[in-house]
Amino acid sequence: MALYLLLLMLTACAAVPQDLSGKMFTFPQPTSSAQVRLTTSRQVLRAVTVCLRSFTDLRRDLSFFSLATPSVSNDILIYKYANDEIEFSIRNNNVIFGGQDHKLNTWHSICTTWNSATGLAQLWLDGKPSSRKSLSTGSHISGPIIIVLGQDQDSYGGGFDINQSFVGMLSDVHMWDHVLSPCQIQNYTSHLNFPPGNVLNWRALSFQTVGRVLVEDEQKDCF
Ligand SMILES: *[C@@H]1O[C@H](CO)[C@@H](O)[C@H](O)[C@H]1NC(C)=O
Ligand SMILES: *[C@@H]1O[C@H](CO)[C@@H](O)[C@H](O)[C@H]1NC(C)=O
Repeated sequence: MALYLLLLMLTACAAVPQDLSGKMFTFPQPTSSAQVRLTTSRQVLRAVTVCLRSFTDLRRDLSFFSLATPSVSNDILIYKYANDEIEFSIRNNNVIFGGQDHKLNTWHSICTTWNSATGLAQLWLDGKPSSRKSLSTGSHISGPIIIVLGQDQDSYGGGFDINQSFVGMLSDVHMWDHVLSPCQIQNYTSHLNFPPGNVLNWRALSFQTVGRVLVEDEQKDCF
C-alpha cells in the first residue's frame, strides 16, 4: 500500500508541467537505462512536427527522439547513424536524409515534419530543408504513446540498446500535431517567436527522468 501511494505521488509529480526555458537535459554517459519520459494528453496524431536542439560528440548510432505505441515501436523515431545520415521513422517506415551537415561538438536544431494525408516527410537541420520524401500515407498514430529521450525503444517502453543511447545535451523539445511552416521552423532555429508545441511544450513540459539524466542551465555565450 505504501509503495502504491509512493508510486501514485511520483506519477502525480511527473505530471506537473515545468517551464524548462534556458535549461537542458544532460545525458553524461552511455547506458541502456537513463532516459527522460515525456507525457502528453494527446494520443492521436495525423501529422507531426518535432523540433529539438542537440549537442553530442558521438560518431556512432544514436537516438534523438523515440515515440512508441504498443504495436509500433518506431511510431516516431529520429535517429542518427555513424555516417551522420539522419533517419526519420513513422509507423515503422523510415526515410534516410543523406548529406546532412551534422557536425560533432556543436548545437544543432533538428526539426522533422510528416503529414499522413500526403505521406511526405522532411528534415530541417539548422533551418536548412532536406528533400521532401515519401514516408507513410493514410494511417495515423494512435496511443497510448510512450515518448523517450536518450534511448531508442525497440519495444513499447523498453528494448533499449546502450549502443544507440544518447550522450550529450538536449534542449528546446517541442512537438506539434501539424506541419509547421518553413518560416516557423526557421524562427525556431533562430530562437525567434514561434508557437510553442501543442503536443509537447518545453515551456510547460511534463516529464520524468530515469537514471542519471540532469536538468542543467544551458551554457550560453557571455556576450
Ligand atoms: C556495443 O558495442 C560494443 C563495441 O562495438 C560491443 O562490444 C557490444 O557488444 C555492443 N553491445 C550491445 C548490447 O550490442
Ligand atoms: C518570426 O519571428 C519574427 C520576430 O519575432 C516575427 O515578427 C514573425 O512574425 C515570426 N514569423 C512567424 C512565421 O511566426
